Amino acid sequence: MTYWQIRAASLEDIAAILDLWKDIDEIKSTIEDSYDNVEHFIKTNPGSLLVACAGNEIIGTVMGVYNGWRAAIYHFCVREDHRRRGLGQALLQTVLVHLKEQGAPRVDLYTYIDNRGAQAFYEKLGWQERSNVKNYSWIF
Ligand SMILES: CC(C)(COP(=O)(O)OP(=O)(O)OC[C@H]1O[C@@H](n2cnc3c(N)ncnc32)[C@H](O)[C@@H]1OP(=O)(O)O)[C@@H](O)C(=O)NCCC(=O)NCCS
Repeated sequence: MTYWQIRAASLEDIAAILDLWKDIDEIKSTIEDSYDNVEHFIKTNPGSLLVACAGNEIIGTVMGVYNGWRAAIYHFCVREDHRRRGLGQALLQTVLVHLKEQGAPRVDLYTYIDNRGAQAFYEKLGWQERSNVKNYSWIF
């Protein structure tokens, strides 16, 4: 049963978003989950950070950005006690509709090598694994 709403995050949501993210290791990266970084993201990419809400609580997030060339998804997660009820699928579906409407030809995402749960999820939903790509980063 659908008991959540999915909407664009506002600046007032940032504290609750950070509270959700702090317990989810699979989305952590070298980019700090700080108030300033999330505020900067929302202001730079209006409407691109979606939150799933159940009542007053934020129970899931996804960032989906298209820069005119490539589209990518970041910080996709559902709070542990709300998993396996279709919310992950609903969040991804919503962000994919937004990215398609903006003209994105393809959407990319990364998962950690040992994140078997997310990999099973993406494979179930028909995402294609890229076996011809190696990922490199330059960290300032
Ligand atoms: C990945 C994640 C967002 C999925 O959210 P969710 O709400 O549980 O996903 P759904 O309920 O929509 O799952 C849809 C289907 O995907 C598959 N699936 C989801 N999680 C799975 C898991 N851990 N193991 C195996 N299959 C899984 C199932 O087939 C599921 O359908 P079913 O429950 O009827 O069997 C959630 O597990 C999560 O937040 N993980 C931690 C953060 C993370 O890894 N994010 C991705 C970073 S790249």
